[in-house]
Amino acid sequence: MDKKDLLKLAAEMTLEEKALQMTQLSPDMLYHLAPANLTGPLREWRFEDEELWKVGSTLGPLGASYLKKLQKDYLERSGKKIPLLFMSDVIHGYVTIMPIPLAQGCTFDPELTEEAAAAVAKESAVSGLHVTFSPMADLVRDPRWGRVMESCGEDPYLNGVMAAATVRGYQGRDPREKGKIASCVKHFAAYGQPEGGREYNTVDMSRGVLRDFYLPAYEAAIRAGAAMVMTSFNTVERTPATCSRFLLRKVLREEWGFDGVVISDFSAVEELMNHSVAADDLEAGEKSIHAGMDIEMMSGVYAGTLRRLLEQGRITQQEIDECVMRILELKNRLGLFENPYKDADEQEEQRLLYCGEHLELARRFARESMVLLKNQSALPIEPSAKIGLAGPFACTGNILGGWHCEGKPERTETLQHALETVCGDRMVTAMSTHFIRGEKDVPDQVEEAVERLKDCDICIAAVGEPEWETGEASSKTCLRLSASQEKLIHALKAAGKKVVTVIFSGRPLDIAPVLEDSDAVLQAWFPGSAGAGAAADILLGKYNPSGRLSMSFPRNVGQIPVYYNYYNTGRPAAAKADNYVSRYLDCPNSPLFPFGYGLSYTTFACEGLQVEQTAQGGERCACETGRAGDRAVCTASVRVSNRGERSGETVVQLYIRDVSASVVRPMTELKAFRRISLEPGEEAQAAFTVTEDMLSFYNEEEQWAWEPGAFEIMVGLDCEHVEKKEIFVPARTGGLEE
Ligand code: BGC
Repeated sequence: MDKKDLLKLAAEMTLEEKALQMTQLSPDMLYHLAPANLTGPLREWRFEDEELWKVGSTLGPLGASYLKKLQKDYLERSGKKIPLLFMSDVIHGYVTIMPIPLAQGCTFDPELTEEAAAAVAKESAVSGLHVTFSPMADLVRDPRWGRVMESCGEDPYLNGVMAAATVRGYQGRDPREKGKIASCVKHFAAYGQPEGGREYNTVDMSRGVLRDFYLPAYEAAIRAGAAMVMTSFNTVERTPATCSRFLLRKVLREEWGFDGVVISDFSAVEELMNHSVAADDLEAGEKSIHAGMDIEMMSGVYAGTLRRLLEQGRITQQEIDECVMRILELKNRLGLFENPYKDADEQEEQRLLYCGEHLELARRFARESMVLLKNQSALPIEPSAKIGLAGPFACTGNILGGWHCEGKPERTETLQHALETVCGDRMVTAMSTHFIRGEKDVPDQVEEAVERLKDCDICIAAVGEPEWETGEASSKTCLRLSASQEKLIHALKAAGKKVVTVIFSGRPLDIAPVLEDSDAVLQAWFPGSAGAGAAADILLGKYNPSGRLSMSFPRNVGQIPVYYNYYNTGRPAAAKADNYVSRYLDCPNSPLFPFGYGLSYTTFACEGLQVEQTAQGGERCACETGRAGDRAVCTASVRVSNRGERSGETVVQLYIRDVSASVVRPMTELKAFRRISLEPGEEAQAAFTVTEDMLSFYNEEEQWAWEPGAFEIMVGLDCEHVEKKEIFVPARTGGLEE
């Protein structure tokens, strides 16, 4: 359809049709509720049965035959024949489940992330989906919050690169194409910083912190073309994001030029009343419309109030029409007016879902995402060693992680199976009890386990947190392994065993209590459908681990939030030996394991940093953040060498610090990285172009600009171990802006 036809269609729609186009419900509501039993929320929301069949989009289950039938039933009842838009939460896989996003961040591999998102899009598209509520670009610093698993971690640049790659994977060049879906980036904005890590709690931060850390990743997703944006539940600067004109009109639409659809989070419009910024549903609707919030998810405020608001002159027809046009344009962009069923296809479902190719991709992705945190000559396991395996993650397929859609734990390979396939009767398994919902711990069978594994040379403790304790509404104040799991590790060590601790979790846990008794620690996260095989590849040395932490590990819960890109204080702990410095009495400031950290079975060196400044007003160059008109400031290069005996991959990381500026700047900030693969004895140069954009930040006037002066250029293999050089960048003659 061309724009003219869309405008004509919109002009013919009644006000009620428009209000319902702007409403999203679950498809089950359309099917299972007859007029007489419209109860509960639906009644309160004032929906009548026939109105349900006029909603513009649905949120929920997929499946080609189900969604084809739904679309057909819908279009048969619809006078205007505007197709229904199907949205759902396909977060890290539909049937083939990829590692959780926090683990994806640890790959530092946007190409592989894009490839995986493309596979996820294919499975979803043939199953009838049009839009996925992913990526989640919320920056996270607090592992008490359960949703850190859905983020790519604590760094704005890494988060942005990964969010953009995910969007490209889902949407391709055009979401209308076969096998592509539209992407909805969420939760705009700053949902990742709830006070105390408590789910849905208040978010409060300065405008500068918001700009420095929290907004860039959403912006990167939008620059990559994300078709939709979801608002967050929280407040930002005392206004709930769902009705924030600052966020939705100024930042999103004016500054970033976003012209796609904005959807609220689940019932967030109605929740404006709980936030005490709306006295009643009329005010909730009015404020959301003023902010340009197009679709209301799972509550009926728009449906119930738009007519009255218009009649009372509290909103304008134009405001409504703008929302409706954006929704119709999205449907058009997906080609739904020509083909309302898009790619839904039962036969293709048979061919694609959980196919060998996708499982193989999931295994590669999972391998790259696991992080070797400690290794004292325990890994890889010797080919002849007798291996013991124990712990609640030894024999379970519950390793997919939250939001695993149609992923099936019961057909997911277990670690025991993956290891036995290779090691056969060199394997002994004990204490294979599982977590049970509602129970605090797995049954304590530690003594039996130690007895059973007494002849083993090396013991793997497969431990972690149950997957249902991560994701939405899963905040916790204790991040330690459960008592029986800690006991298992201590007991194996006390029995004289080499202990390899493999951790399955959706967040950095508090693992300090078991670190000493673990000879090696592999952070496996929730690695998805092929995760057990991936872990076995690493444990047995078929794959050399290359994951790097996307989020710092705390030394204990009291230290949270602990993250690498902090602002300095007037009394930094390192500067003075006395007491009156910014520190704890009982714990260092540094994390247990820092951002960017991860071990390998080989030894990499990164040295000989050379920084060469570019002539003033240097070349314009392609900028990694995609901003136009960027210019080179210097090049930084290092020699990376593999000094060990195995081939492997490492991640060379470029950090920058603005030594003095008009406002405080982070002590260090990741600006670029490269994954490099080296054979034993091989060397390579890793070179980076530092650009003006990398030196820029939002100043007090909220302008994106860099300030002349000194900058530290740092390159290394994690954020703490870097070589650095200082450069002085003078003001550009001819002015800063062009
Ligand atoms: C979550 C969103 C999700 C939505 C729809 C909400 O509770 O916060 O992330 O997309 O539900 O399922």
